[in-house]
Amino acid sequence: MIILGINAYHANASAAIVVDGRLVAAVEEERLNRVKYAAGLPVKAIQYCLAAAGVSLSEVDHIAVPRNPWARLGTKLRFALRMPHFALERARVLRRFAGIKEELASAFDIDPHSIRAQFHRVEHHQAHLASAFFVSPFDRAAVLSADGLGDFASTMWGVGEGSRIRVSGSIAFPHSLGMFYTAMTQYLGFLKFGDEYKVMGLAAYGSPAYLGEFRRIVRAEQPIGFRLNLRYFTHHRSGPEMTWRKAGETPVLGRLFSPFLEEQFGRARAPEQPLEQRHKDFAASMQAHLEDVLLANVNALHAQTKAKTLCLAGGVAFNCVANGKILERTPFERVYVQPAAGDGGLSLGAAFAVYHQILGKPRSFEMDHAFWGPGFAPAEIRQAIAKRPSNSEDTHVAELSEDALLQATARHIAQGKVVGWYQGRAEWGPRALGNRSILADPRRAQMKETLNRRIKHREIFRPFAPSILEEAAGEYFERSHPSPFMTFAYAVRPSKRAVIPAPTHVDGTARLQTVSRQTHPLYWSLLRAFGDLTGVPVLLNTSFNDNEPIVCRPEEALACFERTKMDVLVLGNVLLEKKSSERSSEESSAAVLDTRS
Ligand SMILES: [Fe+2]
Repeated sequence: MIILGINAYHANASAAIVVDGRLVAAVEEERLNRVKYAAGLPVKAIQYCLAAAGVSLSEVDHIAVPRNPWARLGTKLRFALRMPHFALERARVLRRFAGIKEELASAFDIDPHSIRAQFHRVEHHQAHLASAFFVSPFDRAAVLSADGLGDFASTMWGVGEGSRIRVSGSIAFPHSLGMFYTAMTQYLGFLKFGDEYKVMGLAAYGSPAYLGEFRRIVRAEQPIGFRLNLRYFTHHRSGPEMTWRKAGETPVLGRLFSPFLEEQFGRARAPEQPLEQRHKDFAASMQAHLEDVLLANVNALHAQTKAKTLCLAGGVAFNCVANGKILERTPFERVYVQPAAGDGGLSLGAAFAVYHQILGKPRSFEMDHAFWGPGFAPAEIRQAIAKRPSNSEDTHVAELSEDALLQATARHIAQGKVVGWYQGRAEWGPRALGNRSILADPRRAQMKETLNRRIKHREIFRPFAPSILEEAAGEYFERSHPSPFMTFAYAVRPSKRAVIPAPTHVDGTARLQTVSRQTHPLYWSLLRAFGDLTGVPVLLNTSFNDNEPIVCRPEEALACFERTKMDVLVLGNVLLEKKSSERSSEESSAAVLDTRS
C-alpha cells in the first residue's frame, strides 16, 4: 500500500512516501527548489518521493493532506466575520486544496482520472501528533503539538497507544505559544520567517528581568492550557498576515505585536539597531516564560496520562532548550522529537495518520535516523567534480578508501581546518546531522568566529552545535538521554566546558547530537577517529550552507565549497583540499587543550 503525504500551500512544503507502513523517502521542497521555507505545491519533493519508491503518481493508493477545512468551523466563521481579509486569504488557499488533484495532474502532465488515489484530509495538529508518535519507538506515550496556527488551532494533546492517538484537548486561535514567540521575536527586530531560533540563542545572554511582565502576556491555565493577553497582539483582529501561496517565495509574516507592547517595553528594536542588554533580558524573559508555561502543561499532561514517555511536535518542539528542561523538570523519562517537528513534518504525519488512524494498520516502523532525502551515487559525485569550473585548479582531489578518508578528515579537522562533509542521503528536517554538515574542531574557542567570518555569516550570538559519540554523552553532558536529531540542549559538564569551548553556549549548555554506531556508522566512525586522534570524541557540526537551504546535490556542495573559505570538502569518498588555504597562522597554531594525558 502506497501513501503519499503532501504538505502544500503552507510554509515548509514537503512530501513523504510510506510503503506498507514504512517510510521510504521524505524531503522538504526548499532543498530541491532552493527557496528557504518554500510554500506552494511541492512538485519536486513529490517527484523525488515517487522516484525513491519506484512508483508513478497513478500507482499511489492514498494521498494525505494535512489540512481539514471543517475543523473548528464555528470559530473560523466567527473570526471570518471580524477579519474579512484573512477569511478571503484562507478561502483562496482552501480553493487550491479543493483543486489539488487537478493541479497534481497538471504538474505531472497526466489525466486527472489516472490518479486513482483516495484523498484524505488530516487536521493540522493531528498530523503533527501523528508525525511524532507513529514513528517514535514508544507503544504508549503522551503527545503534544504546539505551534503558531494550523486549522485554527495552536495546540493539541492526548495520548498515543499502538496505532491510535486519542486527542483529549486543544487550544483554538487566537491563543498560541507559537504566535507569542513569533510576536516577541519581531519586537526584538528579527522579522524574517523562521527567526525564532535566533532569539532562543540570544536568550542565554540575558537574565529574565521581565518575567513578571511576561506572566501578564501569557497565562498558564489549569489543568492544561494557556491564554494570551490579547492587548499585546494584533493577529486576533487583523489575522496573521501570511503570504505563502507560491512555491518560488519564502513566506512572509505581518507584524503580530500591538502598540501596547511598545507602551510597556519601549520602542521595538529595528533590525539594524544594536542589541542592548534590555533586548537580551527581554529574550531571556520570553524564553523563561515559554518554558514555565510549557512545563506546567507538560506536567499536567503527565498527571492526566500517567505515561512515562512523551512525543512532541509543532514548531515549539524545536525549542531544544525547553525540551532539555522537560527532561529535567517533569516525570517523563523519554521524550521523542521527530527531526522535522515543524510544518515540514506534516506530510509525514498525514501519511502515517492515514495508515494507522484511518486504515487501522498496526505499527512496524521507527524513525531512528533522519536520512530520508536524496542521495547520489559515487558516479554522480565524480561527474559533478569533473564538471567544476576550470578556476578550481588549485584544489587537490583524491579518492580514498573509507579508512583513509576517516583518518585524513579527522586530521584536517584537528589541524583547525573547516571541512564540508557530504555523505549519503540528505537529512529530513532543518538540522544537518552528519550527511550535509560543515565540521570543525570543537576544542578551539575561536572556531565560532572563524566559521562565521569565513562561511556562515550569521549573528555572532548564535551558538554552534556539537555532535558526540552516543557512548560519550554522559561524560561530557549532564544528561545522556538520546538526542539523535539535535532537538535537546543539555548542560555541558563544568569540567568539559574548556575542552569543547566552541560549541558550548554562553550559559554552559549545548544543543547536542548523539550519534549512534548502529544508525549512523560512517559519522560515528569519524567521531571515533577524531576522538582517537585528540582524546575528544566531539565535532562541531553546522549545516552545510551559506544563507541558503542546506545543500542537497553534490553540485551545490561544490559551489558552496568554492564560494566560501572552506578548506576541505569530503564528497562521498573523494577529498578535495584547497591548496592555498587562507587560514591565518594564528588559527592553525592556536593552542588546543590536550585531554589525552
Ligand atoms: Fe504546524
